[in-house]
Amino acid sequence: MSIIFHEKSGEFHLTNGKISYIMEIMENGQMGQLYYGKAIRDRESFCHLHEEMPRSLMAGAVESNDVLSMQYMNQEYPSYGTSDYRMPAFTILQKNGSRISNFTYRSHEIYQGKKGIEPLPSTYVENPGEAESLEILLADDLTGVELTLTYTIYADEAVITRHARFQNRGEEPVVLDRALSACVEFKDSDFEMIHLAGAWARERYVKTRKLEMGIQAIQSLRGASSSEHNPFLALKRPDANEKQGEVYGFSFVYSGNFIAQVEVNTHDMTRVTMGIHPEMFSWQLETGETFQTPEVVMVYSNQGLNQMSQTYHRLYKTRLVRGEWRDQPRPILLNNWEATYFDFTEEKILKIARKAKDAGAELFVLDDGWFGARNDDYRGLGDWYVNLEKLPSGIKGLSEKIEEMGLKFGLWVELEMVNKDSDLYRAHPDWVIGAPGRYESPSRHQHILDFSRKEVVDGIYEMISKIIRESKISYIKWDMNRYMTEPFSKGGTPEDQGKLMHRYILGVYDLYTRLTREFPHILFESCASGGARFDPAMLAFAPQTWTSDDTDAGERMKIQYGTSYVYPLVSMGSHVSAVPNHQMLRNTPLATRANVAYFGTFGYELDLNLLENEEIKQVKAQIEFMKKYRRLIQIDGDFYRLVNPFEGNDTAWMVVSKDKKEAIAAFYQRLNKVNASWLRLRLEGLDEEKLYQVTYHSGHANEEPKVVLEAYGDELMNAGLVIDRNELNRNGGDFASVLYTLKEI
Ligand code: DGJ
Repeated sequence: MSIIFHEKSGEFHLTNGKISYIMEIMENGQMGQLYYGKAIRDRESFCHLHEEMPRSLMAGAVESNDVLSMQYMNQEYPSYGTSDYRMPAFTILQKNGSRISNFTYRSHEIYQGKKGIEPLPSTYVENPGEAESLEILLADDLTGVELTLTYTIYADEAVITRHARFQNRGEEPVVLDRALSACVEFKDSDFEMIHLAGAWARERYVKTRKLEMGIQAIQSLRGASSSEHNPFLALKRPDANEKQGEVYGFSFVYSGNFIAQVEVNTHDMTRVTMGIHPEMFSWQLETGETFQTPEVVMVYSNQGLNQMSQTYHRLYKTRLVRGEWRDQPRPILLNNWEATYFDFTEEKILKIARKAKDAGAELFVLDDGWFGARNDDYRGLGDWYVNLEKLPSGIKGLSEKIEEMGLKFGLWVELEMVNKDSDLYRAHPDWVIGAPGRYESPSRHQHILDFSRKEVVDGIYEMISKIIRESKISYIKWDMNRYMTEPFSKGGTPEDQGKLMHRYILGVYDLYTRLTREFPHILFESCASGGARFDPAMLAFAPQTWTSDDTDAGERMKIQYGTSYVYPLVSMGSHVSAVPNHQMLRNTPLATRANVAYFGTFGYELDLNLLENEEIKQVKAQIEFMKKYRRLIQIDGDFYRLVNPFEGNDTAWMVVSKDKKEAIAAFYQRLNKVNASWLRLRLEGLDEEKLYQVTYHSGHANEEPKVVLEAYGDELMNAGLVIDRNELNRNGGDFASVLYTLKEI
């Protein structure tokens, strides 16, 4: 049994042998939190963990007990305005202007499995036995509003998911000014907060800071989850590192505005809240209407950050991603963006594709520039019909020619956007998001279509589904290249304006749902100027995401390392591109570019016709290598971060198969060092008792992989693998790398 209810004490204990999450119905009927962490044995009551004592300047929450003050209570879903002065999880504005509410326990239901929260994406189960769920119904007498708090605990994972649902059963409308998804509280603040921050081309850098009294928060108000802050944070104990110690992860399954906040009060109590950002959110709930918050996925680890990440990886790979591609190794593709930008003809495209086919690639992706008058980024977005001057046989003809070559065909789209210089805008100027009488700030010369309106989503669906139906399309790269400004829906009432930013995201999910249902065989890759919308919700529709527009191998080491805190390798779009790199203007060895890109979906983003013969030999060998190892890397393996690029010159990581019979490890350096110190790479995740054959893959053309060592797992994990600096020199010095595969003998 994973969810236990102790009727006498009014306590709930969610436990699965790995974690315990314990709640109580408090004396005032509200829900309190007693414990969250490593599994502890159950008992009739944990009420001694509920502490009360008189303190000065304290307000009491019930008549009979003036030391029950909400400001000192750990709560499940706190409100502001009674006796708690911290930031609340929700606020309800009532017709008389009051924001005071009192949600008290009414009933609960425990059931096997997990329900969906459509139209929002969420994690799921395939068999009811995989998880157990609890729904706690609370109600506010005065307004008649009901609040349901839903929890799911997975049987075999240290995972609890949460969300909240409001239903207005009263007689008057209310307005939700704030409706977050989860609140978790700790009685102390001895934590460090980790989050993933960045910007375009340097997404998801790992940031760590000690918690201090006051509020520390990350957020997005950009209309997208954003490259600035990923919707994720973790609290770790100061002694926790990659391999050991306690870590609490919080990941938000949502693609729009969010806040993830940690408030430490002056009694060192820590409150974590996460949900849709209350700024620009105001949701009028009419009688009978329901509002559903997105899901927060909480992971607990007592073996450090790596265990937290592996839990997220397993869950997101198998119980968030869905569809035909979920368990499939991903096709090795060639994308023409950095090869041609907008400057291409059918002939040029076919030449690039043919060379890719010869090298062993499986999918050709035609990026931006194939439609309308799109010869630069000033015009054409929104006109989803082919530019016959560039591609005389249309997408239909081109896709057939590519398929005849033996390649699959993929297409780039940016369905949420429009250029003002387009037929679509000229026909529907009111479809653009923008406030009346105000300047509409352009970004990359484009504007956002108002996906909060069904007729807009319908219009785009009609255009794009026609192209997909008539052509041979196996893959779609769904791009999104600007954040929202002047959020206002020209088709909406004044009350609708506070709903726009959330409804917009629901419109995006709606279009994704329609397209993925109608075309289930298509592999979708989401993209937002690289990784500006790399979030769990996108993965529920598009199993992979273009990780970053920065394709430089040196930069990708950091970006992919940070991304791996939450997201599995199979979700990270990673390509080998040309040198000098287009973003960094840097030269890195071809072998290193592949050694980094292997740890993702793998592909190429350059014109292979421009490479020397020796390089083409290398590329062929790389593709062969990836075909051999992609199931291990993407589907079957567990990922271990070994050396942190944010702490020094080097990066290392590895993947180990579930049965620990196979592994692949890579070590990379940034700048070369002369007369340098010794290098030992301590591997992880191997079986101490197994004897492994270690094979070195130099990546040079005409050089076969070479067996370099036989050693037991205990030696490789403790004494380490000797990294030969001569090999790093031979592999290019700066930005050189070495790659090893391991196999049980
Ligand atoms: C931004 C993407 O991240 C790039 O890969 C490319 O598709 C361009 N957009 C095309 O405009």
